[in-house]
Amino acid sequence: MVSSLLALPSTFSRLNLVQKSSIFIPFTFKALSLLKFHKQPRLRPFNYPLLHFPSSLNSPEAHFSTSRRPVSSKSFDVDLVVLGIETSCDDTAAAIVRGNGEILSQVVSSQADLLARYGGVAPKMAEEAHSQVIDQVVQDALDKASLTERELSAVAVTIGPGLSLCLRVGVQKARRVAGSFNLPIISVHHMEAHALVARLIEKELQFPFLALLISGGHNLLVLAHDLGHYTQLGTTIDDAIGEAFDKTAKWLGLDMRKSGGPAVEQLAQEGDAESVRFSIPMKQHKDCNFSYAGLKTQVKLAIASRNIDAKVPLSCASSLDRSSRADIAASFQRVAVLHLEERCERAVEWALKIEPSIKHLVVSGGVASNQYVRARLDQVVQKYSLQLVCPPPNLCTDNGVMIAWTGIENFRVGRYDPPPPANDPDDFMYDLRPRWPLGEEYAEGRSEARSLRRARVHPSLTSLVQASLQQQ
Ligand code: KG4
Ligand code: ZN
Repeated sequence: MVSSLLALPSTFSRLNLVQKSSIFIPFTFKALSLLKFHKQPRLRPFNYPLLHFPSSLNSPEAHFSTSRRPVSSKSFDVDLVVLGIETSCDDTAAAIVRGNGEILSQVVSSQADLLARYGGVAPKMAEEAHSQVIDQVVQDALDKASLTERELSAVAVTIGPGLSLCLRVGVQKARRVAGSFNLPIISVHHMEAHALVARLIEKELQFPFLALLISGGHNLLVLAHDLGHYTQLGTTIDDAIGEAFDKTAKWLGLDMRKSGGPAVEQLAQEGDAESVRFSIPMKQHKDCNFSYAGLKTQVKLAIASRNIDAKVPLSCASSLDRSSRADIAASFQRVAVLHLEERCERAVEWALKIEPSIKHLVVSGGVASNQYVRARLDQVVQKYSLQLVCPPPNLCTDNGVMIAWTGIENFRVGRYDPPPPANDPDDFMYDLRPRWPLGEEYAEGRSEARSLRRARVHPSLTSLVQASLQQQ
């Protein structure tokens, strides 16, 4: 069933729960079905996009528009209130955002204790942790915004990429809320959300722009042509930079309760970044791909050769031991970021050739909260007279705001699904996309070094949007 779903060209209907026995029919939104939404009275009536712009109803763009300026008006934006739910990895997050970008609430329940105990994310335990807190997290988001579900306009939820078991918890919750309160539902690509949240904080940020998305599981350089339209200039051939930060923190015996990255960043401030000679990854490959597995090994060897014992917490280390750990942290961070700098320079050059009008480099994802990363990348973009856009740290790490905002961007152009049934049958199959590329690879940027496993990769968001546009 899964493979037949993936094979369909126009699966833009997002988040479709498909009964195991049923045939999958892509859903294209029609004005009539929108009219049926309001079975229950809403305290603040909301005009859905297609009803709001009836003159364009017959135009294909009314349904799947990719207009660079989203369909929007002041009252539309203020009335639109979207709940965003995120459970793709180890944070359970929910937020409520208005169409004009006003953040009404934001709640994150982190699994930092589990992370600290196991030094990584264990999917089954993460799933349980999400299940335990999801109802409370969503309720807190509603309470903090002083809203009830009836006052929402739509629910947005991450459907991929991420851990299936974890994604499922968020999707189930989103469908329960949307089904019970007759709300449309918007499926969100986690990495698109990391990029688009920059448009919430920087209103001048128009398509096209270049984005570097750096997190625990991803290292992506993408050219964002438009909503739902991306070209992948580079990705990692093995580990992402956040994973390298996390392992470095673990092996240095740092406190992982706020994840490894911040602990390494803090300790690095005490160290000499030139003291340990790590080599910069992939120097000989003149492309925009990344590799952090080799640097991880170099760090491990350096730690072993200095007899650093990770079981001795930093707080108990002698001053010599502490400074030796700090030197490794600083040297690692310097080289990890040099790799980003080198790739970003090349990506800017490629991007300016493809889309000469780009003016911004967006840097987002958990690792973008690192001040050293920001400062170094700022220098890179200045050389090209571009502007660096980094969301504030709490919007760089996984959060519900970015999901709600991406929901809003998609909702404005008519990309959403109708309210699901109030109760999903037990045998329904969720449309989860654990391995879901954001865009097609840039042909000239393909590298021999890249040997990504291609099994069970979902068609990219961009190819789905393009197919759906062609069908209109
Ligand atoms: O985007 P994110 O919250 O979750 C994923 O989608 O992976 O990113 C989490 C990653 C973790 O690897 C964490 O160590 C890293 O972001 N991170 C940092 C910093 N804050 C979070 N890495 C370096 N410096 C930081 N200040
Ligand atoms: Zn993330």
